[in-house]
Amino acid sequence: MTKVLINERLIEEKDANVAYNDRGYVFGDGIYEYIRVYDNHPFTANAHFERLLRSAKEIGLELNYTVNGFIELVRELIAANGVVNGGVYIQVTRGTAPRDHAFPTPSVKANITAFTKTYDRPYKLLEEGINAVTTEDIRWLRCDIKSLNLLGNVLAKEYAVKYNAQEAIQHRGETVTEGSSSNVYAIKDGVIYTHPINNYILNGITRMVIKEIAQEKGVSFKEETFTLDFLKNADEVLVSSTSIEVMPVVKLNGEAVGDGKVGPITKSLQEGFNRYIDTHS
Ligand code: PDD
Repeated sequence: MTKVLINERLIEEKDANVAYNDRGYVFGDGIYEYIRVYDNHPFTANAHFERLLRSAKEIGLELNYTVNGFIELVRELIAANGVVNGGVYIQVTRGTAPRDHAFPTPSVKANITAFTKTYDRPYKLLEEGINAVTTEDIRWLRCDIKSLNLLGNVLAKEYAVKYNAQEAIQHRGETVTEGSSSNVYAIKDGVIYTHPINNYILNGITRMVIKEIAQEKGVSFKEETFTLDFLKNADEVLVSSTSIEVMPVVKLNGEAVGDGKVGPITKSLQEGFNRYIDTHS
């Protein structure tokens, strides 16, 4: 039977409920992480929980947990559900309280919930690449916080689905920011360009790994903003996230990217990422 984690207890999925006035439910007042599981192990879990603690701090949510405490919790859940390959979703809300915009006083305990998914790596898409479309970034100005408020991201992803694409690449005016649930890279003349880390994008853990791989391989990795036009004229485009890894984009708004095939730098980063998984799982 599948188990779900609710405030430190592993509960049968069918019995797992949350309160109607949980602040995550009412206001989206909370944060989350999505962590990949490869070979029974949570992948880059330290970095994910460091980011979760940072998100908590940025929204003034007090948490009596350490990175290791969180890792212990998700390890138990992974083991209980026998997840070999898949992922763990974990969210923390500001707790259950009568609806009032201001933080509850006195403060209430945060609600922590987590569940697992089982699935394989997206081998076919990694080999063939995906379609993407571009859309205006209508989100708030603290996209560095992994907040539960994902309406802008949800609408962007649905726009992609409508146009038979797997990802929507967002832009603020002419500046490309990030995907609806991924970071974005344009490769031109052997150089990788990606939006710098600031409040307009999420500091992706996969992005950190890609940066490390690029540096090891001696490929120039420039954290600079670039325009929609630059993206459209790139030799290679890719998006990255915990679930889609190093994903080539071969079609953008219905037009081929470069020669329409997965490019050499993308392939080299994928090969480095495979090795990283093998050595860090
Ligand atoms: N999303 N940017 C956004 C807006 C994201 O939602 C994500 C990931 C990323 C990539 O971050 P990372 O490499 O740490 O997964 C960038 C996850 C997968 C999700 O919402 O399920």
